Amino acid sequence: TEPLRLGIAGLGTVGAGVVKIVRQKSALLQDRAGRRIEISAVSARNRDKDRGVSLASYDWQDDPVALAQRDDVDVFVELVGGSDGPAKAAVEAALKAGKDVVTANKALLAHHGQALAELAEQNGAVLRFEAAVAGGIPVIKALTESLAGNDITRVMGVMNGTCNYILTRMESAGLSYAAAFAEADALGFLEADPELDVGGIDAGHKLALLASIAFGTQVAFSSVELEGIGRVSIDDIRQASDMGYKIKLLGVCRLTGRGLEQSMSPCLVPATSPLGQLDGGTNMVVIDGDQVGQIVMRGAGAGEGPTASAVMGDVMDIARGTRVTTFGAPASRLVAATPAQTATP
Ligand code: HSE
Repeated sequence: TEPLRLGIAGLGTVGAGVVKIVRQKSALLQDRAGRRIEISAVSARNRDKDRGVSLASYDWQDDPVALAQRDDVDVFVELVGGSDGPAKAAVEAALKAGKDVVTANKALLAHHGQALAELAEQNGAVLRFEAAVAGGIPVIKALTESLAGNDITRVMGVMNGTCNYILTRMESAGLSYAAAFAEADALGFLEADPELDVGGIDAGHKLALLASIAFGTQVAFSSVELEGIGRVSIDDIRQASDMGYKIKLLGVCRLTGRGLEQSMSPCLVPATSPLGQLDGGTNMVVIDGDQVGQIVMRGAGAGEGPTASAVMGDVMDIARGTRVTTFGAPASRLVAATPAQTATP
């Protein structure tokens, strides 16, 4: 069998993690996929940075669009980030060239998922994004594949580790919001634009993607009811604690007769529940299906190893010939759902 050749755009934490897995686990990956996984070329802004892994054997391509179109690239791995700009241009170029795409880019898919899914299908390509939602937790695969025989009744969860870290530190160490935010910043948790984290936008992107898969609806990020954690005070947290609750930035989505409910906002959860016990920079996704009942998945929502793990899961699926549509149903079958007001857990 021919090797599967990757072109990787973006060599930040996640990109370097993917390169490490491909290099260090090549025999294991080959055994599992039945073919070699290779890297043909990479692209990143800074060539000289030490990423803790040798890149000497790969071609450098300054332009991610050119990388996406190379003849020696079968799968374009997009780890650049951003909802528009080079990431979008390169993903479009790859799909138009009929190449499969693996991305960790939640903003790109939250804004352009429908169009990109259509483009992929028109060109016989697959577009997968496990790493975009809840990092290492295999929630996309669970919904699109393992739970495909269920009607999903609700998906909820904590999908931003940074917010959960801040809220946890306010709760357990009595820090003010500002002090906990500063701590998260010092640990390098915050996105380049912190509002993406604390404004609930990053988590809202992820929720909108899960809702699309769960309910067969077109991605509707603009109708997510969003509230960040910036107004949560230490008093709120103490009062919640006195009543046996914790405050979590909780996403909930559900499709009812009134329409599609999607909310991402600070919520009270019982302190003794799985969500209440989710401390620190962790994520949790809770899925309710009519056949399976309730599933709770917990794990690292960010970081090199966990996110690269999710990218590699998608790459391995493609290497094995698995062809799943982006949102688990053909893009033309996804319906535009009417937004309904406030979801309550
Ligand atoms: N800023 C995100 C988080 C990173 O804190 O969860 C992963 O998307």
